[in-house]
Amino acid sequence: MLHGPRVTLRGMTRDDLPALWRYNNDLEVELAGGGDPPIPQAYERLRSEFDREWSMGGRDGSRFAIEADGEFIGHCGLFNFNITAHTCELGIGIGDKDYWGKGYGREAIGLLLEYAFNLRNFRRVWLWVHADNERAIRSYRACGFVEEGRLRQHVWSNGHYVDAVYMGILASEWRED
Ligand SMILES: CC(C)(COP(=O)(O)OP(=O)(O)OC[C@H]1O[C@@H](n2cnc3c(N)ncnc32)[C@H](O)[C@@H]1OP(=O)(O)O)[C@@H](O)C(=O)NCCC(=O)NCCS
Repeated sequence: MLHGPRVTLRGMTRDDLPALWRYNNDLEVELAGGGDPPIPQAYERLRSEFDREWSMGGRDGSRFAIEADGEFIGHCGLFNFNITAHTCELGIGIGDKDYWGKGYGREAIGLLLEYAFNLRNFRRVWLWVHADNERAIRSYRACGFVEEGRLRQHVWSNGHYVDAVYMGILASEWRED
């Protein structure tokens, strides 16, 4: 649906599930992604969750599969919509570690921001990230996000507390290249 030079954002399909299951059970990926503590997930549970949502019909919400080189490498999306203030939260997780640190993340985020600002008319997109996730923070900065605040020692992650860093970008700061 959304195409960049190397990355496509599209709806999730059943064929993506085996890779998603591997990513969801990869400790390194889970720890990097933040959010809930790593918890194992059986393939059958993932598939039944997908099938349940699928059977309801409609659209996929604002969640996208990230595809590169014809492969499903992760997912991203917009959520926590505030329709009064026109804000939303952005989340992303590239599960295939071979694609980390090579610019795929910033391309996917760029496509998602273009979607948020130009197609959905959001005014502000925000996110939060572990302070020790330097790769993610650098990628977000490259896309125009700025740090707006932090909650000190807010998250327990892999044996220690880390700060939660809040970052945001306004539509007026976003420009198409
Ligand atoms: C976060 C994520 C989307 C970033 O995408 P990416 O394609 O890996 O990142 P990019 O290539 O766009 O940018 C990476 C930046 O970090 C730097 N970097 C690469 N590897 C790094 C490492 N091991 N440690 C610190 N910095 C690193 C790169 O040099 C680049 O910075 P620069 O442009 O200032 O030189 C992706 O790594 C990912 O999904 N990781 C796992 C889950 C996760 O962390 N999700 C985010 C939760 S908030």
